[in-house]
Amino acid sequence: MPLTAEPVVPAGRWDGSSQPSLAADGLGLRPWHREDAADVRAAYDDDAIRRWHARTMADEDEARAWIEGKNAAWRAGTAAEWAVVAPTVRVDEPAQEGSASAGGTGRVVGRAALTHLNLFEGYAALAYWVVPEARGRRVAVRAGTEVLRWAFEDLGLHRVEVEHSTRNPASCRVAELLGCRAEGVRRGHALHADGHHDMHLHARLRTDAAVGAPSSASATP
Ligand SMILES: CC(C)(COP(=O)(O)OP(=O)(O)OC[C@H]1O[C@@H](n2cnc3c(N)ncnc32)[C@H](O)[C@@H]1OP(=O)(O)O)[C@@H](O)C(=O)NCCC(=O)NCCS
Repeated sequence: MPLTAEPVVPAGRWDGSSQPSLAADGLGLRPWHREDAADVRAAYDDDAIRRWHARTMADEDEARAWIEGKNAAWRAGTAAEWAVVAPTVRVDEPAQEGSASAGGTGRVVGRAALTHLNLFEGYAALAYWVVPEARGRRVAVRAGTEVLRWAFEDLGLHRVEVEHSTRNPASCRVAELLGCRAEGVRRGHALHADGHHDMHLHARLRTDAAVGAPSSASATP
């Protein structure tokens, strides 16, 4: 039966394309590599990442499977997952603001992702975590701002949501700073280790007014 709506993002815009690397206000965003397994495993040692992403990571084999799953999701057109990297600055070398280039090398400081991607509807959800040592410098906001720019301007999505537990105020603040408006609470919507949590829903539409670039607390987390 023919559909009455046209796809927001024509499938041909994604098929066969390779995942871009992006530059985000002093940070690089690049596809995950198998070599990131030790960093990914270490990130899931953090109680907050384990809690809010509702999973553990036993060893590097599991981390490699996680990475392979992320890259397979790109090929399937269901998610776009980036490692967020910070330039490695030698202690005898002055830091240069905004010096990270797209795909730049450096240490992994976080994850930024568009999940639940639906090209026909023009929809995705934004997900993020930042390793404990890099927190406090708006890494999630800086990386998320670039992911949203890519989602709306380059890919052509219509709506991106952020959903977080009502017990996670840090994620709420990140969503606000990303210009994702609060839309309400989905009661008992997500299962965590301690049961179902009410989830606060935020979203930004392509047609929402642009948000000013966040002033970064530091260019080198
Ligand atoms: C949420 C998270 C990604 C933010 O990391 P970050 O980018 O380093 O964020 P920052 O520490 O720079 O904080 C960003 C903003 O949130 C605010 N914030 C941080 N912790 C907060 C808290 N517990 N309550 C309220 N606001 C908080 C900061 O003050 C800052 O706002 P400001 O710059 O206006 O002062 C990070 O804490 C994390 O990885 N948490 C565990 C995983 C997680 O929660 N993921 C999201 C699941 S939905």
